[in-house]
Amino acid sequence: MTTAYAPPAVDLTRRPLAGAALEAALQPLHDRRSANALAAPGPDADQLGALLRAAATAPDHGMLRPYRFVVVREDGKAALGAALVDAAREALPGLPAEAEAKIAGKTALAPVMVLLVASPVAGHKVPEWEQVAAASCAGYGLVLAADLAGFGAVWKSAPAMGGTALTRLLALAPGEQVLGWVNLGTRVGVGPARRPVAAGEVATALVGDALGPLV
Ligand SMILES: Cc1cc2nc3c(=O)[nH]c(=O)nc-3n(C[C@H](O)[C@H](O)[C@H](O)COP(=O)(O)O)c2cc1C
Repeated sequence: MTTAYAPPAVDLTRRPLAGAALEAALQPLHDRRSANALAAPGPDADQLGALLRAAATAPDHGMLRPYRFVVVREDGKAALGAALVDAAREALPGLPAEAEAKIAGKTALAPVMVLLVASPVAGHKVPEWEQVAAASCAGYGLVLAADLAGFGAVWKSAPAMGGTALTRLLALAPGEQVLGWVNLGTRVGVGPARRPVAAGEVATALVGDALGPLV
């Protein structure tokens, strides 16, 4: 028997936070750290399902869900590594052997990899770039969800993520694009701390008809 989906009640009495309560609420975003060193165990099927469902809440113009994930565990890594090397060879002729080895080694860095494929709907009134942006948001959602759940996660990519072999392996349709993958596993170390960013470094304000400092 399937249970009908009941949307949660929205609390209209809730007021925006400020001061210390605001900072505390946002702390998990500040605390998120990508994890390059990852060991087993990675998320099991139930845990991964929960992370992917959370990722799929990403902002999405037209609710097109213009992306798909491909989960790669141990038994898929050899094929993925070979296809990534082929993609690099095809796109970058003359690639040195060390660079090829580095690409092949990318599949050895985590117990679980989740490839993120943007699947924009061609000819839709929502422009393709917006759909790819929605897919990117889902990638961040997956990284954040994993971090909140206690896993280590990091978004990775390779110098080329198209080409004949990868297209065949991932059954990429025309217009689909691999945006990289999210490595998931158990943290075994902590990387360098991120430098805190002041809002004024990333934002200006439009005051009348002129851009100026953030207000
Ligand atoms: C599309 C995309 C591809 C990325 N590819 C790589 C990569 O191949 N190698 C890498 O070290 N970091 C890569 N990163 C950056 C890391 O995921 C991470 O964000 C960065 O190391 C900063 O760490 P932080 O997330 O803890 O701030 C990529 C990020 C994005 C969004």
